[in-house]
Amino acid sequence: MSGIYDDPWAYELACAFRDVPAEVDALLGWYAEHATDAEHATDAGHATDAGHATDAGHATDAEHATDAGHATDAGHATDAGRAAPSGAGPATVLELAAGPAEHAREFARRGVAATALDLNPRMCAYASREAAREGVAVDVVEGDMTRLDLGRRFDLAVTMLDSTSHLMTLDALVAHLRGVAAHLSPGGLYIVEMSHPRDRLTDDPSVSAGWTVERDGVHAGVRWGEPGDRLDPVTQVSADHVTVTITADGGTRVIRDVVPYRFWTATELDAAIRLAGGLDAVAQYGDFGVGEGAVPLTDPGAWRMITVLRPAAAAPGQGVGAQPGIG
Ligand SMILES: C[S@@+](CC[C@H](N)C(=O)[O-])C[C@H]1O[C@@H](n2cnc3c(N)ncnc32)[C@H](O)[C@@H]1O
Repeated sequence: MSGIYDDPWAYELACAFRDVPAEVDALLGWYAEHATDAEHATDAGHATDAGHATDAGHATDAEHATDAGHATDAGHATDAGRAAPSGAGPATVLELAAGPAEHAREFARRGVAATALDLNPRMCAYASREAAREGVAVDVVEGDMTRLDLGRRFDLAVTMLDSTSHLMTLDALVAHLRGVAAHLSPGGLYIVEMSHPRDRLTDDPSVSAGWTVERDGVHAGVRWGEPGDRLDPVTQVSADHVTVTITADGGTRVIRDVVPYRFWTATELDAAIRLAGGLDAVAQYGDFGVGEGAVPLTDPGAWRMITVLRPAAAAPGQGVGAQPGIG
């Protein structure tokens, strides 16, 4: 039996509730806000000019500077020692666990050199085909996001739609974070979108497990998770039952799958980032709003957990610049 990820067209249809261009707008907005002009970036602790060492306008004390209102743990999410935001867009983007690579394709449409990586060969083939059909250039790589070895760096890396839930162990998440850190440009950014922890930790989830979508005359009813799908209390893994019912031209096709899902809490993510080293969390959001429209993770309306990470300010001679194999 083939699963939902073996049918990329059906997967993309099931996820058509998203506004991908609007999400890419937000990713670019966060890049402009948080990525630093690497040429002018400084090592933490060496900055002497708070006006140039913070996200301008938020902080006045370089030692305690944070993205005010965004970071959940000010002690580990500081902008201290950083240059001012680049304000510019990324030249290169890497989408991880990209599936059909909808975001990479949208970045490519906007002139950003896009690379998409996924483990599943069918997803990779579909992503390549769709990019070619749309006339955009996306470099599609079949690979494992816990063993990144692309031999180049990117201004922006993104992992969308809770794909880190496929990293089942702490070792896998830490390896993933280390790999991403080694593939970021010095002034780059990693943005990772996860489900809001409320969905798994409370009886009041922020999203529904069932929805419908309509595209090009095709209708899909989706159930991603059933009431009986419980997290194993020890492993925090659940076997999520997925059913996609597709109706077109009077015919109906049903795809059933069981997708393993590892739930990561906000504090576990924070711990994994610290354990991995090489990255600092600079902001966290609960939705795809930027600037005035930013939604804090703690907002009652928050429904995603989106974390913005930057290469950690390194001591001289250390850090991502010293990683082997990456130019
Ligand atoms: C929920 S889909 C998300 C796809 C895409 N991020 C999106 O926003 O539509 C998860 C994807 O992660 C991929 N995946 C799972 N484990 C992976 C790994 N270790 N490395 C790379 N891709 C992986 C699957 O093949 C699948 O395409």
